Amino acid sequence: MVIARSIAELRTSRAHLADPLGLVPTMGAFHEGHLSLIRRAREECASAVVSLFVNPTQFGAREDLAAYPRDPSRDLELAEQAGADLLWAPEVAEMYPPGFQTWVQVESLTKPLEGLYRPGHFQGVATIVAKLFNAVLPQRAYFGQKDAQQAVVVRRMAQDLNFPLEIVVCPTVREADGLAMSSRNAYLEPDERRVAPVLYHALSQAAEAFRAGEREADVLRKWMERTLAGEPLARPQYVSVADPETLAELSGPVERALLSMAVHLGTTRLIDNLLVG
Ligand code: PAJ
Repeated sequence: MVIARSIAELRTSRAHLADPLGLVPTMGAFHEGHLSLIRRAREECASAVVSLFVNPTQFGAREDLAAYPRDPSRDLELAEQAGADLLWAPEVAEMYPPGFQTWVQVESLTKPLEGLYRPGHFQGVATIVAKLFNAVLPQRAYFGQKDAQQAVVVRRMAQDLNFPLEIVVCPTVREADGLAMSSRNAYLEPDERRVAPVLYHALSQAAEAFRAGEREADVLRKWMERTLAGEPLARPQYVSVADPETLAELSGPVERALLSMAVHLGTTRLIDNLLVG
């Protein structure tokens, strides 16, 4: 596996990689979720590139940028084992040089859900992902369903800006007890970790109700809220039944829906989702 730092190094190495090329954008601290994306890119493409960049512009002022877990030497080893041909880890100074002032703004899709509680987050995500696409020029780019709104926003951005690539969204990888893998799970205290699968339980119960014939958005939302209320440590921020394409909140009977939530456990904020229908 080749390692590139600067965009110039990336371009030189990229020129030797076979097409179609699959890009897996990441912020590092790899777990099985990340590795599943790298393996999938490896399987489906002639070459696989992993970008590792903790993007400062997608973190809010009170979020965990400084504390975000970093372990570059372990990441390097895991990316290589998963089959990456090239790991690109750019510097903040090159991605955001002094005087930087150009942003990618995806409009209504970034307003609800995460956008409501993380103002500016998706502007940072859309901007860095567009920059990664421009630098790497992949034919495919791999994202996780874990971050459902991010996948929808990135797909819209790629379409709107005419990036000649395919966005591939891969299933959420979970721990044995259902907790969606996340770099932020490392922040959980032992008692919080025990409670953390409640997000998946709440989503699963609503999905089960849907399979059993329940179609009322408000009833599905109540199922999730009731399950979360059973865990005093869990403090829900939002619980949503939304249109999977527009992300608009739904009421009345639904054919398809994105069930999603953000929940605080102590100081840690967890998100999870399931698609139904
Ligand atoms: P990061 O949180 O490192 O995630 C990188 C990719 O891994 C994202 O596409 C995310 O959805 C996916 N992922 C995370 N946990 C997963 C899981 N349990 N199962 C499946 N996929 C999972 O998301 C970002 O970085 C950044 O916002 C980024 C897109 C790199 C832009 O900075």
